[in-house]
Amino acid sequence: MGDEMHAEEVDVRQALTELFEIELRVAGETPNLVQIKDREKFFEFLAGQPNSSTWIWKDESGKPVGYLTLIDKPEESVLEVLAIRVDNGMRSSGYGKQMMEFAEKRAEELGRGTVMLATHPDNAKALGFYKHLGYSIARRAENYYGDGTPRYILEKSLRERHPK
Ligand SMILES: CC(C)(COP(=O)(O)OP(=O)(O)OC[C@H]1O[C@@H](n2cnc3c(N)ncnc32)[C@H](O)[C@@H]1OP(=O)(O)O)[C@@H](O)C(=O)NCCC(=O)NCCS
Repeated sequence: MGDEMHAEEVDVRQALTELFEIELRVAGETPNLVQIKDREKFFEFLAGQPNSSTWIWKDESGKPVGYLTLIDKPEESVLEVLAIRVDNGMRSSGYGKQMMEFAEKRAEELGRGTVMLATHPDNAKALGFYKHLGYSIARRAENYYGDGTPRYILEKSLRERHPK
């Protein structure tokens, strides 16, 4: 089932309506997600940083199941997962794991040593998911997304997984 999934890189401006609809649905069910109610602020969030890329995930029938935004930070040898969203009703089916595996593969292709991301300390589902996939809390940041709420910064070192 999940093997037929595919990721399509999108232009955030062109796909903004589709992305924003997913975001509003997911944020409605995930109170500890960064809450962005304004379309242009959402555009800035996804596309406002250098080296960002956004991917919409589709199932075998072409139906969108979620999206993933990555930011490459070559100077730190880090690939950041800025946003990972599996749409309502589609969670716990392995899609999120496929997205994270995609991010890690991309980090390796780019030669980055670490995948990092930020998540709210109360987002228990996400924290359990990341820990299950080998991520650990590196530090706490008080205002990472500028929304006045704290985040845990989680990291996974890819070099430890594949020692040379
Ligand atoms: C967090 C999120 C991306 C996870 O995606 P998902 O599709 O629901 O997760 P998956 O089904 O791929 O889970 C993958 C694995 O993690 C495990 N897992 C998931 N949540 C877990 C939890 N809370 N504790 C322990 N393990 C967990 C699953 O059991 C599965 O394990 P397996 O591969 O060994 O069978 C998804 O729930 C989501 O979009 N949530 C709303 C938005 C959000 O919070 N995003 C993260 C913001 S930082």
